[in-house]
Amino acid sequence: MDAVDIAIIGAEGLVGQELLKILEERRFPVASLRLLDSERSRSSEFFFRHQRIEVEEVRSDSFREVGVAFFCDGADASRRFIPSAVQAGAVVVDDSGVFVSDQSVPMVVPEVNADDIARHKGVIGNPGCSAIQLVVALYPLHKVNPIKRIIVSTYESVSSSGTAVALKELTAQAKRVLEGRRVCPHMYSHQIAFNVLPEVDVFLDDGHTKEEWRIVEETRRILQTGAIGIAATCVRVPVYFGQSQSVNVEFDSAIGPEEARRVLAQAPGVRILDDPSVSFYPQPWAASGLNHVFVGRIRRDASRSNSLSMWIVCDNLRKGAALNAVQIVEEGLRRDWIKSKKRRP
Ligand SMILES: NC(=O)c1ccc[n+]([C@@H]2O[C@H](COP(=O)([O-])OP(=O)(O)OC[C@H]3O[C@@H](n4cnc5c(N)ncnc54)[C@H](OP(=O)(O)O)[C@@H]3O)[C@@H](O)[C@H]2O)c1
Repeated sequence: MDAVDIAIIGAEGLVGQELLKILEERRFPVASLRLLDSERSRSSEFFFRHQRIEVEEVRSDSFREVGVAFFCDGADASRRFIPSAVQAGAVVVDDSGVFVSDQSVPMVVPEVNADDIARHKGVIGNPGCSAIQLVVALYPLHKVNPIKRIIVSTYESVSSSGTAVALKELTAQAKRVLEGRRVCPHMYSHQIAFNVLPEVDVFLDDGHTKEEWRIVEETRRILQTGAIGIAATCVRVPVYFGQSQSVNVEFDSAIGPEEARRVLAQAPGVRILDDPSVSFYPQPWAASGLNHVFVGRIRRDASRSNSLSMWIVCDNLRKGAALNAVQIVEEGLRRDWIKSKKRRP
């Protein structure tokens, strides 16, 4: 693979920092690296391959020498700067979710729909962390026995709130509660320390939250079917890193836990941790810092034929965000759908 001129927008944030680590760990072919962020972060600096790189303020003219731009900065900045990046000829991988409903922008999880990268017109959507871990675990099963219905409840860490402020809020609240002092919530509607909140992102008119709507949209888009019934409930939990999901799946025909384990044992990006006799199952703190989607508690649903229940966990900052973005570009470069040389604007 030829080396690429890279920019990370939102470089000082949680996802941006994870991306920096992953590019280094995977020996990604980087020709040059620009770290861009808000005005506040200007003049911070980070090391990449022993080189000191200063963070610059992102501006419309920041993309002249950029081949691939990873946008990890939030919806407002993505809306504002992606047109300039595309105009300058960069290929954008966007983490903000602003393209969920835009069918012209492919939404890609390489283990599932890598071929969709081929139809990009300058922008590729990185799905939300909840949809990514769900499809990585379920697609291998869907291939052997089509899925009819998914019921998913998420247990989402504060680091997946899309702002690093959430980590500080959990720490500050936990300290106040332990000191017997009153908590005044800022980030969330209620206290998050020692509590769980069935509210992730804003409420929509139909009573769902935007995160619940997003899981449904993205899962159907990535699996390329509108035929799967999906019911989602998203819950914020006082966990720093790692996203967990309780999932009930109804298949077209009968499938037992042993067969599901056999299929998932061969699946790319999946690890099975499943031995109830020794309380062995995936946990968010243990998944933190790792690249796989972990699946356990696979069992038959006695109340409904053809259905299985399971527990799925992954690191929301890694496979749920930064790693998936890097894998999209690696796959695009490998199959020549993303050029290492800059696109002509
Ligand atoms: N965290 C996750 O697990 C996860 C998973 C999937 C997708 N995502 C998405 O990834 C994005 C980043 O999330 P994060 O958790 O890394 O948030 P974060 O830690 O708050 O980082 C966001 C970074 O972007 C910068 N930024 C914000 N607005 C900007 C603007 N207008 N211009 C330039 N820079 C700007 C922020 O700078 P300031 O601090 O100065 O504002 C910050 O450094 C979000 O869109 C989020 O929804 C996150």
